[in-house]
Amino acid sequence: MPEPGHILLTGGAGFIGANFVRYVLAERPGVRLTNLDALTYSGNLENLAGVAEAHAGYRFVRGDVTDAELVGRLVAEADVVVHMAAESHVDRSILDSRPFIVTNVLGTQTLLDAVRRRQREGAPVRFVHVSTDEVYGSLPLDDPEERFTEETPLAPNSPYAASKAAADLLVRAYHHTFGLEAMITRCSNNFGPYQFPEKVIPLFVTNLVEGAQVPLYGDGLNVRDWLHVLDHCEAVLAVAERGRAGEVYNIGGNNERSNLELTRTILELMGQGPEMIRRVPDRPGHDRRYAIDAGKIARELGWRPTRSAWPGALAETVAWYRDNPGWWKRVKSGEYREYYKRQYGG
Ligand code: NAD
Ligand code: DAU
Repeated sequence: MPEPGHILLTGGAGFIGANFVRYVLAERPGVRLTNLDALTYSGNLENLAGVAEAHAGYRFVRGDVTDAELVGRLVAEADVVVHMAAESHVDRSILDSRPFIVTNVLGTQTLLDAVRRRQREGAPVRFVHVSTDEVYGSLPLDDPEERFTEETPLAPNSPYAASKAAADLLVRAYHHTFGLEAMITRCSNNFGPYQFPEKVIPLFVTNLVEGAQVPLYGDGLNVRDWLHVLDHCEAVLAVAERGRAGEVYNIGGNNERSNLELTRTILELMGQGPEMIRRVPDRPGHDRRYAIDAGKIARELGWRPTRSAWPGALAETVAWYRDNPGWWKRVKSGEYREYYKRQYGG
């Protein structure tokens, strides 16, 4: 399809969403982009400071993806929906899974119904559902060659992963039953600026700046495949523009690290020693290893990660948090919530 004229992005005030807004407006200067975000605890308009002033085609709408009336109105204006809004933190889903079911499952169904209405009206809208490698479950450590492909059966282990898998299956069903032009992306762990400091990299870096230890779960040998957030954004835009309807695309960084290796590298970059590691009990149900085979998106859309190589890319991210204490200190203190009130008076 041609470059999209009007993208409706959900969850654009979060980590990946805010990076996606900045990336798309830079790469596609003529595009209109509406950012629908409820501003939950992880939504932060400071992630988008300066964007509205610099781009006439950008608009922020505060609202919930489960609000069918609002979603229907916004989908009717768009030709592509990129759906990122979600409850995204595994540990929170272990404490309370309900918001995960409401936003991740019901929210996705609400969007799909709105897209389906447009299709019936003769105005099809492309739909990109941004999902996660966690829907595939866990790989063992003893076979380094084994990776998740798009054909790997779904076997989610946390309530978060189960809610994302449920949403993926709804997207699949709406494509199959109603012929929606829907695609699913499944990505590995992202790193980069503006990540909420509950996730391991910003949590560890900001703790160290504050002189606190870093809580390493279990034996620290769990493996994640790290991808720079802008590589992810580039891949999602490629799928939005050129992905085949009904297809799943895995996105990964080819960059597997154990949590212990990650922690030691962060400590080195911060000039600190192993005494700053605090061993804590493991996360219940903790997936051992994620590893993505991203061959399909490379073959079909020519996408490959170019910004994720370690240790350089990690060093840049660590430096970003070190150099922007104002951003994360306002997040940790809760002050970031005042920004919306100042900007929009609500
Ligand atoms: P995030 O938690 O930083 O951001 C989520 C955003 O969604 C926030 O701005 C929040 O306000 C918004 N939101 C939450 N509930 C909403 C609702 N009901 N209505 C409207 N907006 C709502 O998450 P993230 O890390 O940026 O992840 C974005 C997406 O990418 C998610 O779908 C996640 O599952 C997926 N993903 C994330 C990663 C990762 O490493 N962070 C990897 C693969 C996939
Ligand atoms: O794989 C993609 C997923 O990556 C996304 O779908 C999720 O939205 C995203 O949050 C992320 O999930 P993880 O659970 O892998 O990310 P998290 O940063 O929470 O943890 C990364 C690893 O670090 C994991 O093995 C648990 C470990 N960890 C995490 C925290 C917060 C610790 O050892 N200590 C910690 O304090």
